[in-house]
Amino acid sequence: ALGLSGRSFLKELDLTPEQWRGLVDLTLELKAERRERRETPRLTGRSIALIFEKTSTRTRCAFEVAAYDQGAHVTVLDPSGSQIGHKESVADTARVLGRFYDGIEYRGTAQETVETLAQHAGVPVWNGLTDDWHPTQALCDAVTMLEHTTKPAEQVAFAYLGDARFNMGNSLLVLGALMGMDVRIVAPAQLQPRAEVQEQARALAARTGARVTVTDDVAVGVEGVDFVHTDVWVSMGEPKEVWAERIALLTPYRVDRALLEATGNPDVRFLHCLPAYHDLGTQVGRDVHEQFGLTELEVTDEVFESAASLVFDQAENRLHSIKAVLVATLG
Ligand code: CP
Ligand code: NVA
Repeated sequence: ALGLSGRSFLKELDLTPEQWRGLVDLTLELKAERRERRETPRLTGRSIALIFEKTSTRTRCAFEVAAYDQGAHVTVLDPSGSQIGHKESVADTARVLGRFYDGIEYRGTAQETVETLAQHAGVPVWNGLTDDWHPTQALCDAVTMLEHTTKPAEQVAFAYLGDARFNMGNSLLVLGALMGMDVRIVAPAQLQPRAEVQEQARALAARTGARVTVTDDVAVGVEGVDFVHTDVWVSMGEPKEVWAERIALLTPYRVDRALLEATGNPDVRFLHCLPAYHDLGTQVGRDVHEQFGLTELEVTDEVFESAASLVFDQAENRLHSIKAVLVATLG
C-alpha cells in the first residue's frame, strides 16, 4: 500500500512525505503487535544479508531481531567477513548476493557504495549508515518524537546540535522537512550541512509546510523546541586528530542542563542516536579525558540520565522501525 515493495531504502529524499508517514504508522503497528505478543510473521522463508564495514550494536541487532521476529534468516558479514570492496568490486558482490538473498543491508563510508549495491543487486538494499545519511535512524527518531508528544507532526519543533555535515545532521534536517516539522540545525558555520542538502530540505519544506532553520546561534536554535537531539562530535572513520578542533568548535553546543533550560520548555526531551560519550565509561571518553582533561563531551551525564532523556526508548525503536522497513520493502 505504501508503494515501497521491492524498493531500496537509501536516503530520506527517495521517499515521499506520505510514504514516510506510512512507515511511521507501520512501525507503531508492528511495535504494538510485538508488545501484545500477537506478531504475525510476514517474511517467512526469506533471507537477508547484513554487510557492516563499520561496527554497530543497534543497527545490526535490530536488523537481526526484526528478521527473526518476522520469520526471515540472516547472514552477517562483518568488516573482515567478505570480499566486498577489497578483493571484489561492489557491483560484483551485489550481483552475487542478489542471487542468494531477498535483501541486503549495508553500513559503510561512501553513500555511493550503497547506491552502487542497489543498482546491481536486483533486490532491495537498505542503508544502515553512511557518512551522508542514516535513514533507519531518522525513521526511528520520527517515531520516538511522535510517541512523546500530543502534538501533530506539523506542530513539533526540534533542534539538532553538533556536527551537522555528517549523517545525523543531514538525516534529521531532511526528516524534519519531510514531516512538516519546525526543524533547527544548530552548529558552527564550518559544521553545517552542505548547501545542496539545505536546498533540498528547503524545497521539501515549501511543499510540506515545514520550517527549516540552520543557525550557529544556540539561543535562537533551541528556543521553544519540544526535542533536542545530538550526536557524537567525532564520527566513525574520522581520525583521532580532529578531536581538538571539534572540541573547540562544539563545546558551546554541548547539551547540558542550562541548554535544556534555554529552550524555555519545561517538558523538553532529549534524544541521541547512540553510542554516546556522556561519561568516562568508554575508551574514547577516557582517551579524550587524558588528552584534553574533559569529562563531558556532546551531552552531560546529568542530562543523559535525567527524566528528560528518551535515549533508550529511542534505541528500542530501532528494532520496530527497521522491521517496518523490512516488511514494507520485502512484503
Ligand atoms: N545508532 C546506531 O546506528 O547505533 P549503532 O552504531 O550501534 O548501530
Ligand atoms: N555520526 C555517528 C552516528 C553513529 C550512529 C557516526 O557516523 O559515527
